[in-house]
Amino acid sequence: APSPAARAPASAPEPTRHRPAVPSTPAVRPQAATPSAAAAEAATLARQARSLPELEKAIAAFDGCGLKRTASRVCFFRGAETARVMIVGEAPGREEDLAGKPFVGPAGQLLDKMLRAAGIEPDTTHITNMVYWRPPGNRTPTPEEVDVCLPFLTRQIEFVGPEFVLVLGAAAAKGLLGIEEGITRARGVWRELSMAGRTMRAMATLHPAYLLRTPAAKRHAWRDVLVVKNALKAP
Ligand code: URA
Repeated sequence: APSPAARAPASAPEPTRHRPAVPSTPAVRPQAATPSAAAAEAATLARQARSLPELEKAIAAFDGCGLKRTASRVCFFRGAETARVMIVGEAPGREEDLAGKPFVGPAGQLLDKMLRAAGIEPDTTHITNMVYWRPPGNRTPTPEEVDVCLPFLTRQIEFVGPEFVLVLGAAAAKGLLGIEEGITRARGVWRELSMAGRTMRAMATLHPAYLLRTPAAKRHAWRDVLVVKNALKAP
């Protein structure tokens, strides 16, 4: 259920008693009245950013995503600023929230290991998430939270200019590629992703956090990473 603050009209100051009693929670202005108004604001801010550092500043200053209220900091990207391969996960977890970098915890270590084993140096890729703040308790971000962050991600893709996008897990596959079916069925095929004025080849695969829980599934993700590697090698 939305918090009382999330239901408050944009002009109403948030009553003090509704502020979460978490010391590290930054004070933020009340949220935009509807997700679409917040998404429109995000789109305007994203358009105004002329570089990745400017985009990160715009994201950090943006109050339209409720996740910001419980997260410690923005988690933007790690790796290269421009990259042939962009990797998009779901949302920061605990380690990522502390570090301000995506995929630095156990799932990220597995991701790096798989990339390296396939001959892809993680630092040559651009690694990010569908949302820039850790959801409380690591829950899956809601479609509204994903939609509000999408204009920033779109602009990010424009700056990074990838040829290939590897999408990790069902939530990112749904948010970025509109895939509604299960990830086990949807993974491993190239899809056309047209956004930010360019057309890329995108592939959904299993999320490394899932692979940590289900090691038998690793071979499928392996195959997908190798397909990306082969695409990189192709002339
Ligand atoms: N899981 C994700 O989807 N992203 C991260 O950054 C870490 C774990």
